[in-house]
Amino acid sequence: MLVLGIESSCDETGVALVETQGAALPRLCAHALHSQITMHQAYGGVVPELASRDHIRRVLPLAQSVFDEAGKRLADVDVVAYTRGPGLAGALLVGAGVACALGAALGKPVLGVHHLEGHLLSPFLSADAPEFPFVALLVSGGHTQLMRVDGVGRYEMLGETIDDAAGEAFDKSAKLMGLPYPGGPWLAKLAEQGDPAAFKLPRPLLHSGDLDFSFAGLKTAVMTQARKLGDDLEGRKADLAAATQAAIVEVLLKKSMTALTQTGLKRLVVAGGVGANRDLRTQLDAACARRGVRVHYPELHLCTDNGAMIAMAAAMRLQAGMQQPTEVYAFDVKPRWPLDSLVRAPEDALA
Ligand SMILES: Nc1ncnc2c1ncn2[C@@H]1O[C@H](COP(=O)(O)OP(=O)(O)OP(=O)(O)O)[C@@H](O)[C@H]1O
Ligand SMILES: [Mg+2]
Repeated sequence: MLVLGIESSCDETGVALVETQGAALPRLCAHALHSQITMHQAYGGVVPELASRDHIRRVLPLAQSVFDEAGKRLADVDVVAYTRGPGLAGALLVGAGVACALGAALGKPVLGVHHLEGHLLSPFLSADAPEFPFVALLVSGGHTQLMRVDGVGRYEMLGETIDDAAGEAFDKSAKLMGLPYPGGPWLAKLAEQGDPAAFKLPRPLLHSGDLDFSFAGLKTAVMTQARKLGDDLEGRKADLAAATQAAIVEVLLKKSMTALTQTGLKRLVVAGGVGANRDLRTQLDAACARRGVRVHYPELHLCTDNGAMIAMAAAMRLQAGMQQPTEVYAFDVKPRWPLDSLVRAPEDALA
């Protein structure tokens, strides 16, 4: 079965083809991505209307390049998958509209995918794919969640952020330091030359005893520190970046270890853009090695939004019998859509 996947929830247009063969892990045939980052950089953040217009321009040429690379034709596609939510409504509607138009034209069914489930299952695209069950640390631009994952569609939320996401903490702190958007990778690069102990920053909820996160206070502390430094900020930026990264990483590390202890699981899966952070990876690797826990990450270029994870999540849901594709081309989207609401027993999903 050949699944075409389309991602357009925010500022990346992604298209991919994934093939399933029996119960084997689906195989990525080809994927293509266009990032709008340079377009939004001038505004310091994503401009939704510009994002939607750019998705319209990009999606079909990207699809063409994916078919060319995979040596497949449109007629070979069995299911057209698209990101149904969460995300920007207008941006989501582009992917949904194109998917439904293709499905209707080809006489093939469509399947709406949850964006976070795409992130969550993205490590299955890497050569070192995980096995169920595992603890998942989902750290993206808009979400920070710890989950127990027992299978496709079998997710139990263990804890999540009560305010800002870790990616947001990276981005907002970077903005305060005058770094370009999105600031996470820039802040991480700058942090390499800084001293993480140069500033004392808070580790919110570190000892709360539960698995929830809070990063809004950290951003405020970075702002206070930046103001205090005034003209000296420029010379101390690397130190402040290193201290910020250290605070975020320490909280993510500690809570992930607590989740492993509480569940008794011996496998950790990290997904989402912040999962590309090298300091986080180094520290998680070391802590997990000490506990005899295996850690899995998506490949670096598949940590942030992409079409491959959407096609993969669709293929895995179909294989697991969690969802049937539909020939109702309603292109409905869900800009707000909690991941927990996906959780149903396979027999319910098919009903
Ligand atoms: N090396 C890095 N270090 C820290 N943060 C990073 C790094 N690379 C990317 N990020 C952060 O990852 C985030 C983007 O990740 P992703 O694309 O998964 O999120 P999103 O799609 O914007 O959000 P969501 O999936 O929650 O809707 C941004 O906040 C970005 O700054
Ligand atoms: Mg995302």
